[in-house]
Amino acid sequence: MPKTLRASGSGVMIMRSYTRHLPWLDRAGRLSTLKLVAFMATVLPGLWIALELREGWLQPKPITEAIHQSGTWAVRFLLLSLAITPFRRVGQWGKLIAVRRMLGLAVLAYAIIHLALYAVDQHLDLVHVASEIALRFYLTIGFVALIGFAVLGATSTDGMIRRIGGKRWQQLHRIVYGLGALALLHFMLQAKLDISQPVLMSGLFLILMGWRALQSRGLGDSVAALIGVAVLAGTGTALIEACWYHAFNRLPIADVIAANLSFDNGPSAAGWVVVCGLGVAVLRIGRLAWNRWGHVLPTVAGWRDAGPRSTRPRGRSLACNSGRSGPNTRRRLDGAPSC
Ligand code: HEM
Repeated sequence: MPKTLRASGSGVMIMRSYTRHLPWLDRAGRLSTLKLVAFMATVLPGLWIALELREGWLQPKPITEAIHQSGTWAVRFLLLSLAITPFRRVGQWGKLIAVRRMLGLAVLAYAIIHLALYAVDQHLDLVHVASEIALRFYLTIGFVALIGFAVLGATSTDGMIRRIGGKRWQQLHRIVYGLGALALLHFMLQAKLDISQPVLMSGLFLILMGWRALQSRGLGDSVAALIGVAVLAGTGTALIEACWYHAFNRLPIADVIAANLSFDNGPSAAGWVVVCGLGVAVLRIGRLAWNRWGHVLPTVAGWRDAGPRSTRPRGRSLACNSGRSGPNTRRRLDGAPSC
């Protein structure tokens, strides 16, 4: 083969091995709509913040506002990444695993942007930034969470997962729950008067933790248990809010809890948490109904070759079905355990 052709052939190979890692392609190098949507969803908020800063739409304190927005997006992506496993199980949508790593990395990216904006706000005086982080409790907590997310991000490559080993990787990545709690505490502590947003996010976090507690007892698929988690998470949310206002504003706990039952200003954060938790139970009911009667739909609607291909949960192994991982637990292609 002529030298130039051989050179261009290896160039194509190098190009292919790079493009294989493009975030919207699946492992076979084909376009994945799910991954493309997730990629757009993770990138667009950042571009929007950049545009707002450039166009001066964030007056009167553009950098402070950008710090708030980037921090809020970091928490949103954190909750979304933690919701992937419950949604895969409850909705039996195994393919969702393809976007979990991307969402996790989005948490890290937004948290780094958040810290960078804070440094800009402090006129890039890094000594001052470091001393503020050391002296202010809520910043110290945020910093610890950021370091933790950086460790998780650095150990999320295929090579690192292989090197660490699936089981140890899983154990290490369990720190994400503690990091999530720290990030939410940071969110709560920096809020001045209105804590509705951090309380709502904490309630959603409670649902996710409640689901994991159920799953460890093999009850993650039970509709009754999911309804129980919704009610408990709502109650927990109301208690967090009440204790917070009691501790910092001396408001009676009973009054704050009673305010949750008044719908004058729409549902409270606790109310929304119950609604979201019940939504998960409804999703489970819908999935069970589809498994049971979905095959009838194509006949009723006159479709052919449609409907659920099997009533067996797709996208997960029977070992995963048990809710426990063991020697038979199926591993994802990239080595990270899928359960
Ligand atoms: C070194 C690390 C961090 C620093 C220096 C930092 C700094 C800040 C600052 C200065 C604020 C605004 C406070 C105010 O206006 O009074 C803030 C708010 C916030 N931060 Fe951080 N943060 C850090 C890490 C994190 C991490 C890791 C997360 C989440 C994963 C996070 C999420 C948030 C959220 C959600 C808010 C509130 C946003 C809002 O009010 O809408 N931060 N942070």
